Parts: sequence; C-alpha cells; structure tokens
Amino acid sequence: MPSVGILGTGKYVPERILSNEDLARMVDTNDEWIVTMTGMKERRIAAEHEATSDLAYEAAVRAIDAAGLTAEEIDLIMVCSVTPDMMFPSTACIVQERLGAKNAAAFDLSAACAGFIYGVATATSYIKTGMYKHVLVIGAETLSRITDYTDRNTCILFGDGAGAAVLGPVPEGRGFHSFELGADGRGSELLTLEGGGSRYPASMDTLEGKRHFIYMNGREVFKFAVRIMGSAAEEALAKAGKTKEDIDLLIPHQANIRIIQSAIDRLNLPAEKCMINIPKYANTSAASIPLALAEAVEEGRIKEGDTIVLVGFGGGLTWGAAVLTW
Ligand code: ACO
Repeated sequence: MPSVGILGTGKYVPERILSNEDLARMVDTNDEWIVTMTGMKERRIAAEHEATSDLAYEAAVRAIDAAGLTAEEIDLIMVCSVTPDMMFPSTACIVQERLGAKNAAAFDLSAACAGFIYGVATATSYIKTGMYKHVLVIGAETLSRITDYTDRNTCILFGDGAGAAVLGPVPEGRGFHSFELGADGRGSELLTLEGGGSRYPASMDTLEGKRHFIYMNGREVFKFAVRIMGSAAEEALAKAGKTKEDIDLLIPHQANIRIIQSAIDRLNLPAEKCMINIPKYANTSAASIPLALAEAVEEGRIKEGDTIVLVGFGGGLTWGAAVLTW
C-alpha cells in the first residue's frame, strides 16, 4: 500500500472584512470582549455573488497548481462544508464542472468543523486501496449566510473562506501516519441549523423561528472542545507511534483562542509550534484547518520531514485528528 500525503495546498478568502468595530455597530458588543473571549479581530464575508463553490473553486485551483497536476488528473473531489450551495446537487459536482475535472467522481462530506479531517482520512483510505491516485479535499464555507447578525452570542464568531489539499502517493515514511475520528450524537442539539431539511422543511414558521440560522449552546460546546482537542491529538500521536515532543506544528481548528490555548497547554507546546490565524479569519468551520494549513505552507512554516498534527471538533458532535510527516 502506498504512503499517502499532501501534494499541494491552496486557500481563498473573500475580500470584504468585517471587523469587531463593525460588529459593535450592529449588536451590543465591543472589540475588547470579542478579543478577550475569542481571540478574533476580523473575519471575511463573501460578496453577494459568491457562494461556497466559488470559494472552493479558487482554493482548489491553487492546490492543484501547487501539486503540479492538471484538473484532469484528479480522480475524486470532496467538498467538506455545512454551507453547501444547495441541498443538491453537491457542491463538489459544481466545483468539478468549473475545474474541468472531468475524470473525477465528486461528493460532499458533512462532519461540520471536523469535516476536513474526516475528508483527508477518507481520501487516504481511497488512495491506499488503489481505487484512486489523486484526491482533492476542500473545506469551504459561507457561514455569513447562516449567521443571525442580530444575535451577539454567535454573529461575532463566524467568517467565510476556503482551503484545499490534493492528496496522493508520497515516498515511504512521509505522509499520513494515523487518524483519530470520533462522534457523539448525544450532543447533536448543541450546534444546529434545523430549518430546510426533512425534519423542519422551510416554511413561514421556520423563517419566523429563525431556524435557518446557526443555533449554538456556546458554553457546552466550549467544555466539549477543551476536553476533546487535547485528547484527540494525543490518541492520534499514540497511534502514529509519536509523542508530544515530536510535534513541529500543530494546526488546530480556529474556533476560539482559549480552546486552542488549552490544547497548547495540554500538549506542552511552545507557542510558535501552533498555527494561529483566528484574529484574521475567525471560525470558518470546515475551511478553518485547510486554510490554516495552506497559510502555514505559504509562510514557510512547514519544511520537509516536519511532524504536523491537525486537530478539530464540531457540530454532530464530531472530532478528528491526524498526524503526518511533511
Ligand atoms: N459581546 C459582549 N458580551 C457578550 C457577547 C458579545 N458578543 N456574547 C455574549 N456575551 C455575554 C453573555 O450575554 C454573558 O453575559 P451575562 O453573564 O450577563 O449573561 C457573558 O457575555 C458570558 O457569556 P457566555 O456565553 O457564558 O461566555 P463564554 O465564556 O461561554 O464565551 C463563547 C462565549 C465565546 C461563544 C464561548 O462559549 C465559545 O467559544 N464556545 C465555543 C464556540 C464554538 O467553538 N463553536 C463551534 C462552532 S462551529 C460551527 O457552528 C460551524
């Protein structure tokens, strides 16, 4: 079985910036509270004409280019998102058409903010079995479309963006060593968007009840996240036969600086070994980890042979961690 790693990464964020000061003019909040409680300064907001597939496409083009491949060499496209363009067709099919990736199968994957880790784990399995050679995994979100900008508890947290990675065979000893995926459906009510599905189809009631917006029990999600981030990373490291000391760069889901700090503390990491871009982009759900990964690559923070740990959690509840050698 081949070793499977990341051949290229790409990212894209919309131009428009929504700052804490902007939010303070919309709801009863302020820059100091947001920075202290979340670490966020600003977030990007998609233009009116931009949907998730547009952001995904831009990130994908860059990732395919960085991998030194053409779109026709991609065998499978996965879009991980909680904000697909539509219920169906899948956003992956829309991206496939725009890329001209005519040889690729395509589907969407739903695991909320842990989506990208689920995605790379799935891609790795396909490549290891020999079914596919090159798999494009995209995390892309337009969370601004499902955010209630009159609710100060949630509207400060979310932003739009996309990150992508092309996975394929790499020399032995490099690439992904382990994955730790998990889910706990008992927490499914803590983070939801209920409206528009088969349980609560769109109606005047769902509109008036604001069921087409994100609902979040922030305190409970926070407690879960603090517990799971460190333990998922530790489990993945143990499966890979590695220790905390081996980590060269931790790339955590950018949900809250205090959650990230708790993972840094638990893993005894020096601050420079953790990728943090939450002040610029806030929480972009499934896009957060691939966006941070692509940015770390751009900034030259990852070199060949480095041990990288990806870790995230999200609605479902779901979580995932992966250990790889770059
Ligand atoms: N500005 C000012 N005050 C605020 C704001 C705001 N934007 N939001 C809440 N407050 C107030 C509350 O009303 C509350 O006031 P009170 O004590 O008078 O009632 C006080 O601040 C504390 O509120 P808490 O909700 O208890 O604060 P907490 O420490 O839990 O922090 C936060 C809130 C930042 C949302 C935190 O719970 C968190 O980060 N949770 C995890 C969120 C997360 O990771 N979600 C994943 C989402 S992924 C997805 O949905 C796609």
